Amino acid sequence: MANPVYLDYNATTPLIPEVTDAMRPFMEEAFGNPSSSHLHGVIPRRAVSNAREQVASLLHCHADEVVFTSGGTESNNHAIIGVARTFGGKGNHIITSAIEHPAVLSVCAFLETEGIETTYLPVDGNGCVRPADVAAAIRPETILITIMHANNETGSIQPVSEIGEVARHYGIVFHTDAAQSAGKIETNVDTMGASLVSIAGHKMYAPKGVGALYLRRGLSLPPFFHGAGQESGRRAGTENVIHIAGLGKACEIAINDAEALQSQMQTLRDRLHEGIKNCGVNICLNGHPKDRLPNTLNISFRGLEANRILEEIGLDVSASAGAACHSDGVDMSHVLVAMQVAEVWAKGTIRFSVGRMTTEADVDRAIASVFNAVTQLCRL
Ligand SMILES: Cc1ncc(COP(=O)(O)O)c(C=O)c1O
Repeated sequence: MANPVYLDYNATTPLIPEVTDAMRPFMEEAFGNPSSSHLHGVIPRRAVSNAREQVASLLHCHADEVVFTSGGTESNNHAIIGVARTFGGKGNHIITSAIEHPAVLSVCAFLETEGIETTYLPVDGNGCVRPADVAAAIRPETILITIMHANNETGSIQPVSEIGEVARHYGIVFHTDAAQSAGKIETNVDTMGASLVSIAGHKMYAPKGVGALYLRRGLSLPPFFHGAGQESGRRAGTENVIHIAGLGKACEIAINDAEALQSQMQTLRDRLHEGIKNCGVNICLNGHPKDRLPNTLNISFRGLEANRILEEIGLDVSASAGAACHSDGVDMSHVLVAMQVAEVWAKGTIRFSVGRMTTEADVDRAIASVFNAVTQLCRL
């Protein structure tokens, strides 16, 4: 079977061997229930508590502010629905942006069926929300601002500190979806000024199906699940000790490797960009030229179709498309639509995202493959 280079780390990441090692005991001898008072409960209980500290270190918060969840989607659902339920008496207005992940947009759409009104802020040409637009959208009945930390498609880093400042000034709860940024760039809850922060394990070399929600002390939301009171009564259900231990380890590794990893990813990402620029086709970068996740390269090939490019390179490279062409038109991603990328560019949009395991040889193989593909497609 072909073994394509994996350049889709924003979709999901493989496990780091140390993460697998950290999880193994809880699949084997340390299988006990963390709530058990007998000896079999001790090691799993300690593991959950240790992982909570590790997540807290990554987010620069207190361990008791971390709730384990099943991932980014659950964390976002809980944060947004929880605020809507808690502050419903104060107001019914949420501010978000047009470029959020569906795990935020669909939650807002759901709440609209219950009487919530949502403002979807536009973005500038770099795919960034303007803090002044956030301030201008605030109404007396605004109860939540939810703006992502970094966009999953373009990697554009949003001005969350400034937005957090606006939220603080008006006394409004600020939630940020940091599923893509955690482990790639600094995620400090205080610097961001956020009271709620979502993270997802499988974007940072931990398993799928685990994540966390940071919930600032003093902000009390209704329980996610009702049951036997785990997670300090905030999310009942026997803890997923195996995955929680993996998430904790992944956070520890992300902290230790932060600087080296950022520069490694950025070097490889920029090498890929340069190589593709030299392929002799018209390309443009989508996303902020500087304030962007160090691993993300979203580019449009003018006049070409993303799916055709992906088909051509598929045996060499795994990446994702930003638009799909059909007989009756082009389905552009909502992010490219919000950025007002012209169709002739948008339809040829590919997101490449490098990661910890990417090598220079991988990047060079991807460049060669893209070169062959676009040369071939331009001839047709
Ligand atoms: C920005 C963002 N938020 C939320 C999610 C959803 O996370 P999960 O897959 O853990 O539910 C993703 C995953 O693609 C994402 O990129």
